Amino acid sequence: MTDIHTHVVFGVDDGSRSLEMSQEMLREAAEAGVTEICCTSHCRPGHRDFPRQAYEEHLAQLRAFLWEEGLEITLHPGCEIMYTSEAAAAARTGAAPTLGGSGFVLLEFMPETPWGMMQHALREMGNAGLQVLVAHVERYACLRDEFSWLEEMKDLGATLQMNAQTVIRSQGFLGDRWARKALKAGMIDIVASDMHNLTSRKPNMGEAWKVLKKELGEDRARELVEETPHRILTSRVQRRRARRWQGRETGDR
Ligand SMILES: [Fe+2]
Repeated sequence: MTDIHTHVVFGVDDGSRSLEMSQEMLREAAEAGVTEICCTSHCRPGHRDFPRQAYEEHLAQLRAFLWEEGLEITLHPGCEIMYTSEAAAAARTGAAPTLGGSGFVLLEFMPETPWGMMQHALREMGNAGLQVLVAHVERYACLRDEFSWLEEMKDLGATLQMNAQTVIRSQGFLGDRWARKALKAGMIDIVASDMHNLTSRKPNMGEAWKVLKKELGEDRARELVEETPHRILTSRVQRRRARRWQGRETGDR
């Protein structure tokens, strides 16, 4: 599996708090069959810069750990961008890293963000040449009120991600009828853990895989947790374009 939305890098946001916690999160992910992880720590352009130096140092420590332990997980860089008016510029200049160096950004909104603002954001990012993966679509009130807007988001070019926790919530898969409908209707493109720690928001791709396979069949489950996220992280054309933008904006070719 490819887990494209995680806060496994320690000490840079509200995710993992220590090297040891990150190590255990990675061990659990490996055990569940995760082979690729995108490390999407939070940033909020114009308000809270991406903590690049600490992020890169801690990411390197985690890669060394994986190598020493012989765990077969590839860690990709990235971040989760809270939408602001400076988000597109931050992604284009590289101030906010894209997903695995591709042309995709992981974008989140405040839960009460109005639909008009989301449409504006998706158009703005598209005009900047960025492809958007919308984080945890089940969290936004306007989409819960108006199901058809999910389709409009896709018409605007967005790829949609749901959290594994929503799929496996304690009431069972039927517990969140909106989420079930969205999955069954094919509106969701990717399921990812959004893991932050070992307890309340833990590595849970193994559990999600079981539920998705049972409810949607193996082929569809594989698309959600393996094929689509992997395709994003390895989209080479987009990656070349992202490098070109970053070179142009920073003057560093
Ligand atoms: Fe997140």
